[in-house]
Amino acid sequence: MIEIKKDYPLKSRNTFGLDAYTRFYVEASKADKISFSLNYASYYNLPVMILGGGSNILFTKNYEGLIIRPTIQGIEIIEDAPETVTVRVGAGINWDSFVEWTVSRGFGGLENLSYIPGDVGASPIQNIGAYGVEAKDTIIKVEGLNIITKKKVELTNSECQFDYRFSIFKGELKHRVIVTHVHFKLSKKPSLITHYGNLDEEIEKLGERTIQTVRNAVIKIRKQKLPEPTEIGNAGSFFKNPLVKTSVFKALQNKYEKVPSYTASDTQVKIPAGWLIEQCGWKGKKVGSCGVHQNQALVLVNYGEAKGSEILNLAHQIQKSVHEQFGIELEMEVNVV
Ligand code: EPU
Repeated sequence: MIEIKKDYPLKSRNTFGLDAYTRFYVEASKADKISFSLNYASYYNLPVMILGGGSNILFTKNYEGLIIRPTIQGIEIIEDAPETVTVRVGAGINWDSFVEWTVSRGFGGLENLSYIPGDVGASPIQNIGAYGVEAKDTIIKVEGLNIITKKKVELTNSECQFDYRFSIFKGELKHRVIVTHVHFKLSKKPSLITHYGNLDEEIEKLGERTIQTVRNAVIKIRKQKLPEPTEIGNAGSFFKNPLVKTSVFKALQNKYEKVPSYTASDTQVKIPAGWLIEQCGWKGKKVGSCGVHQNQALVLVNYGEAKGSEILNLAHQIQKSVHEQFGIELEMEVNVV
């Protein structure tokens, strides 16, 4: 049985808590149900949108099509080697429940990605990343369905063309593939990655250096900096950290001695967008019912009654001031509908 709902409210389906409707909505727990939903959309000539946990989306209007939410469950160990384990995970599993599952079994690789909202199916799309680790470091295969041909597709890690907050699913295959399962290769003898920011310091305070302690420390840091979507609507980082040429960075450093940065390559430097936004005076600012979070300027928040268009307007104002002050373009990370 599959139930296609009409005029479905999305308020509880997006972490910004925005009031929007979709003309049709369906939750599909199996690949064949997704195929059925795709056929339904083709028959009625409806555009299709895939929605996971709704933690990276900004609705500025209603959606005049069919939203498919893959709710495919299951975590299956498909290879158990002496030092590694490969798991095949349903796209509809909550990301952090999966991370907790891996950490509690001593399988390392995802502990730095603890407490990220959203579903497993979204992890390869934007190559989620935090505290020195990205999903691409452990994803070995992505299974899905091609929206146009309705045929099964499988992509290896390199075929996914992963990059910073990017994959083929945001490029050539944008809106073309519904992820059904993701395969992760995890380590039974994990080496910890703890060089990012104050992670090492927090781990020290919490005790022994294990993947469980890394997870606990990451959760602690995230809770201090990032607002809980259940309390204040938000979608995590609203912008990507911009990449600039080393020469541009050096010029910036001459003017702002303390500009933070991460080396991205021999010729490029990544600058935290949160710093640029804070320098422009936006941190903690409230504009109508939305604003810029007081602990992390990269996060835009909905204080309750904001419209998506207001948040988008605020984002445009921020982009404008960062451009005026630094000559740097901020690119949105969140998907705008
Ligand atoms: N900073 C400021 N002011 C701010 C925020 C940041 O000056 O308001 C500067 C500070 O110098 C700070 C540095 O930026 O040390 C880095 O800040 P943070 O560690 O919070 O990381 P980020 O670069 O702002 C990125 C990811 C986050 C991820 C953290 C930790 C992006 C777009 N965001 O943020 O991801 O949790 O690193 O790894 O790359 C998300 O994608 O939704 C997300 C939260």
